[in-house]
Amino acid sequence: MNEKNNPAPPFPRKPARGDAYIREHIKERNNRYRPKYHAAVPFGWANDPNGCCYFHGRVHLFYQHNPYAPHWDLMHWGHMVSENFLTWKELPIALGPDQAYENGGGCFSGTAIEKEGLLCLMYTGTSKDFQQQCLAVSGDGVNFTKHPENPVIPHTLVPDAFSDKDIRDPKVFTAGGKYYCLAGTKTAETGRGNILLFRSDSLTAWEPVGPLFDTDNPKASNYFSLDGVCECPDYSVIDGEEILIFSPENMVPEGDSFQNVHCSVWMRGKLDLETGRFDYTDMKELDGGFDFYAPQTFKLPDGRSILLGWKEMWGRNFPTEADSWVGSFTLPRELSMKNGKLLQQPVREIRKYRKGRVKLDETVLPEGKDVSFPDFCGTSCELVLKIAAGAAKKTGVKLFCGTDHETVLCYDRESGILSLDRSASGIPLSDDRGPSVLRRVKIGHRKNLTLHIFLDVSCLEVFVGEGEQVLTANVYPDPADTGIRFFAEGGEARLVTGTLYGIRV
Ligand code: FRU
Repeated sequence: MNEKNNPAPPFPRKPARGDAYIREHIKERNNRYRPKYHAAVPFGWANDPNGCCYFHGRVHLFYQHNPYAPHWDLMHWGHMVSENFLTWKELPIALGPDQAYENGGGCFSGTAIEKEGLLCLMYTGTSKDFQQQCLAVSGDGVNFTKHPENPVIPHTLVPDAFSDKDIRDPKVFTAGGKYYCLAGTKTAETGRGNILLFRSDSLTAWEPVGPLFDTDNPKASNYFSLDGVCECPDYSVIDGEEILIFSPENMVPEGDSFQNVHCSVWMRGKLDLETGRFDYTDMKELDGGFDFYAPQTFKLPDGRSILLGWKEMWGRNFPTEADSWVGSFTLPRELSMKNGKLLQQPVREIRKYRKGRVKLDETVLPEGKDVSFPDFCGTSCELVLKIAAGAAKKTGVKLFCGTDHETVLCYDRESGILSLDRSASGIPLSDDRGPSVLRRVKIGHRKNLTLHIFLDVSCLEVFVGEGEQVLTANVYPDPADTGIRFFAEGGEARLVTGTLYGIRV
C-alpha cells in the first residue's frame, strides 16, 4: 500500500554514510563552546531527544540528527549511551532515511519500548506525502532493522478530521496488557493542535482510539486550542499522577509564561484509554528559561522518572553553527510530584562526580557592591547557593563574568520574581520575536532562596528550591569570563551558604 502511494525508489542515503562523513570531517569541529558534561551532537545538527530509555544497563539517548551539516535537513536518529548520566559514548547512527516512506523529511522523532527482550523504536517516517508511524527493532540496542510491515500506523488510519501530513512523534507505552501510542497532530481544516491515541496488541497492527483534546468548546475539561502541531507528546505516571507533556508550536505568551516561540508544557489529568480524552486541571510551562524543547521521559529500573530535553530553541541564531555542530541536551532530570507540583532535580548520580569543593562562609552582601571570592569561579561546575534577601530589594548572582560580559540571575524580593538576563552574556541571541534576553519566573516570597546551578561552558541550568522551577539557557561568553559575583540592591542581603564543585568527567 505504501509503495503505491510512494512509488519513489528506496531512498539511497544509507546511515553508514553519515558515520563515515562524521569521521572524515570531525577535525573541522571547533570545541570552544562544547559543554564538558552535557550530551551534545558530535558533528552536524541535533534536535529532539528520541527513544530515551534504559536498556541493557545503559541509558540510551537517540536524537534527531543531520550528520552532514550544522542545520536541520533530512533526519536521521543519532545515538549515544551513558552509564553514569554524565559522559556519553557515541554509537553508530541508528536510523537513516533509506525507505520510500521516509523520502520526504526522513526519520522524525519517536520513542523506545522493550518487547520480548528487543529494543523497539517507534518513529515517524516522513515521506513527500504523509507522516506515518514506523517501527525499527534491535536485539543489541545498537543495530536496528526497519520492520517489513512499515508503516505500522499508515496514513489511512488517521481519522479524516486530522492531518495525515502532520501526525508525528509517536510515544508508545503499555497499559492493561495493551500497547498505546500517542501522536501529535492538528485538525485538517482549522490547523488546531491535538494528540491522537492509538491502540495495539502487537506493536504492528494499530487502531485509532481518539483525540485527547476538544479544540472547540472552551468549557470542556479537555479543551486545548492553538494553531500548530502538539509536538512530541509524552505520557507517564509519576508518583501516582498521570502527567502529559508536549511541545505546542506557536505558544501564545501569557504574562511571563510561554515567552519562547515554541514551549514545552505539562498537564496533570486523566487519560481515558477507551476514548482518548484527556481531562486536565492545569497546564504549566516545564522550563522557564530560553533553551528547552521536545523533552521525553523514561523510567529507570528503580522506578524513577527521568526527563531529558533539547537544550536549544527553534528560530534563533546558533553561534556554534560556525563550529560545525549545533545541538545539545539538558542534564537528565529526576521528576517527582509534590502537592500537585511537578518537581525536577538533576539526576542524583551526578553527585558522585563532584570534585574540588570550595565552600564559602556566611557573608554579608553589601548594597551596590559586587562580591566575589578567591577560587569561587569557573565555567564548568556546580553551585549550591542559599541567599537571604534580607532588606535588599534585589539580590542574586552574576555568572560567566568578565570584563565585558555577565549573565545575571536576580531575585526581586517584592515581586517574588526570579529573572535570568543574558543580554550581556556574550554573542547576542535573538529569535523570531526579537532579542532573546530576559526570562522571568514567579517563585514567590522566600526568606531563603535556594539555587542549584550547573554551568557548562556555554550553558546554565538553574534549579530553584526543590525543583519547582528550572531555567535553562545557552550563553556564549569569552573563555576568560570565569567570574562569579554576588550582589544586592536597595539594601543588604546575605549569602547564607555557597558551595562550588568541579565535575569529574
Ligand atoms: C520537534 C519536531 C518534531 C519532529 C522533529 C523533526 O522539534 O518538529 O515534531 O518530529 O522535530 O526533526
